[in-house]
Amino acid sequence: MTAPELIMSQKPYSDFRSDTVTRPTPEMRRAMAEAAVGDDVLGDDPTVLELEALSARMMGKEAGLFMPSGTMGNSVAVKAWTRELEEVIVEARAHVYNMESTSMTFVSRVTPRPLASKRGAMDPEEIERNIRMPAVHTPRTSLICLENTHNNCSGTVLSLENMKAVRAVAVRHGLKVHLDGARIFNASTASGVPVKDYADLADSVMFCLSKGLSAPVGSMLVGPREFIDYSRRIRKMLGGGMRQVGVLAAAGIIAVRDMPARLGEDHRRARTLAEAIVSLPGITLDLSDVETNIVLFTFKHPRLGAADLIEELKKRGVWALAVLGGVRLVTHKDVDDADVERAAAAFKEILG
Ligand SMILES: Cc1ncc(COP(=O)(O)O)c(C=O)c1O
Repeated sequence: MTAPELIMSQKPYSDFRSDTVTRPTPEMRRAMAEAAVGDDVLGDDPTVLELEALSARMMGKEAGLFMPSGTMGNSVAVKAWTRELEEVIVEARAHVYNMESTSMTFVSRVTPRPLASKRGAMDPEEIERNIRMPAVHTPRTSLICLENTHNNCSGTVLSLENMKAVRAVAVRHGLKVHLDGARIFNASTASGVPVKDYADLADSVMFCLSKGLSAPVGSMLVGPREFIDYSRRIRKMLGGGMRQVGVLAAAGIIAVRDMPARLGEDHRRARTLAEAIVSLPGITLDLSDVETNIVLFTFKHPRLGAADLIEELKKRGVWALAVLGGVRLVTHKDVDDADVERAAAAFKEILG
């Protein structure tokens, strides 16, 4: 048994905080050790070039760009598609709006226009009503950001129908659509819709290698060649140009090639966990929202606050996270059925 496998099997705690905590697989570690590398800023790291081409092909786009993080992927996309004095329509609980340290205003100097949604899906008619023409008082709307799956709506899947309707609005008004597809492979696994069909409805897509797909680092931005060429310059400006980064891209190739196939397992475990805790006092959770690997609930209890619940869980070896007014548990490669049983038992002991 290798050292990392030994550490995993001891399982002193069950980490449900995020799918970002996944460790690279032994195969990834081997590929990283053996990766052919070059200087990616100078454009000649062969492993990065392979990952970028593979990602673009999978999403049906002209080109791809390796990013250090999903946050940088989204930031660069917004920057590339917008100019100052413009506005971006975004779902009110979207990651790009709530959890990326105001990058839209800080990096791109554009105004986000957040709209409410049903389970992450904005109403296309409401989007259309909120599109603004430039005038002396108002910015011009230039971009719509979508998120699929929707993290802060419990990992819900945007339907292809909703995305098509949003796309039609965008086309009618000459707007671009950027898809935060951090977990687009989870969406595809749950719905059976190929990732390429979702990507077809957006001008650019960001997806993460380092979440359920288990690579240690990295995200991809894909889109038209000209957009990616410009994005490469913005990435450099933000300090995201890395050098012999084929060592990371090697894990990324395995992530996109091999890891989507196991995501259904995570979805099944999230469902089992949600069913085990849904009726416990204090928890408000709609089981129909648990479509993928995220269990997100609001917590109102006479004796305990959300922070107390998280603390009590932690005492029992179960790690959860507070997010946007709720408590979140995420299933992933490094939690198994025993971890789910441990979590369910801890919840029952605390609240039952
Ligand atoms: C939907 C979504 N978009 C973007 C990101 C940002 O990714 P990163 O943590 O790699 O910056 C996350 C991270 O959790 C996310 O959930």
